[in-house]
Amino acid sequence: MSVRFAGKVALCTGSGRRAGLGAAILQALAAEGCKVVFTDMLDPQAELTSANIASRNEMQGLVGEIRAAGGEAIGLPLDVRDEVQVEAAIAAAVSQLGRLDFLINNAGVGFLIEPLIGTSKQRWQTVMEVNLTGAFLCTKHAARQMIHQGGGGRIVNIASQAAKSGHLHMAAYTASKHGMVGLTRAAAIELGPHGITVNAICPNHVTTGLGEVQNQYFSQLRGFESVEEYLKDMKGRIPLRRVGLPADTAQACAFLCSDAAAYVTGEAMNVSGGMEMH
Ligand SMILES: NC(=O)c1ccc[n+]([C@@H]2O[C@H](COP(=O)([O-])OP(=O)(O)OC[C@H]3O[C@@H](n4cnc5c(N)ncnc54)[C@H](O)[C@@H]3O)[C@@H](O)[C@H]2O)c1
Repeated sequence: MSVRFAGKVALCTGSGRRAGLGAAILQALAAEGCKVVFTDMLDPQAELTSANIASRNEMQGLVGEIRAAGGEAIGLPLDVRDEVQVEAAIAAAVSQLGRLDFLINNAGVGFLIEPLIGTSKQRWQTVMEVNLTGAFLCTKHAARQMIHQGGGGRIVNIASQAAKSGHLHMAAYTASKHGMVGLTRAAAIELGPHGITVNAICPNHVTTGLGEVQNQYFSQLRGFESVEEYLKDMKGRIPLRRVGLPADTAQACAFLCSDAAAYVTGEAMNVSGGMEMH
């Protein structure tokens, strides 16, 4: 086993879904010796139903696999919109694993897709609270812990291609992800003197649970006969001719957490097969 991250502890939000980017990120870090903290919102409520959030069993299964492979992992419930839960999860991670070196703000909702003029204030706020306010709250409390323990740290925000360009019927999502890049840049300036780097990753389409909802919606909206036809068209517009994989984002995140990225901060890095270039 590689030990690039031996002795380090990583917490990732929204990492309880097996096919999701968060699980892939923690699996990649754990494979290189990192102790990992899976966290997710586990209690369905309002728009956040069991169809689009993780289940307790799913998350515990991921924890069990890391342990079976000889790694250290724990799972904690965490709704990133609730500051009390954010503080409690970080305190529990530190008390059980000793410290916190990497925070990955990955929790996000992208299934509320609808025309701007039909979007209710409540739905707008749900997207903002999970995608942007949640990242702010976790950054605030993780940074306090990193400053307290000393030695720097890494914060990686999983933004999106929608952080760089406008996207049809996704005004709230697009605004929240652009906001995440603003948060990244502001936090990089404030936390840099403490040796904490803050960067964002901007993936294009990955067929996770969230990605599947988007495929269904846009293949119908754009009049494709099937999701396969829609994806074929999309791949034709991606310079590297394939959609993203969870491993693409996971490896980019591992790079940003590594010593190799010690002098990279305030960056919003595209991982999009060339689809997004600015
Ligand atoms: N899949 C893509 O095409 C794609 C592309 C670019 C960016 N992203 C971003 O990547 C991140 C992960 O998405 P994914 O594709 O793995 O989808 P996913 O649905 O598998 O993962 C999102 C996770 O967020 C969790 N979550 C939702 N509300 C929460 C809350 N209030 N508190 C804590 N967790 C909550 C869900 O339970 C789920 O585990 C998201 O921020 C998404 O916007 C995804």
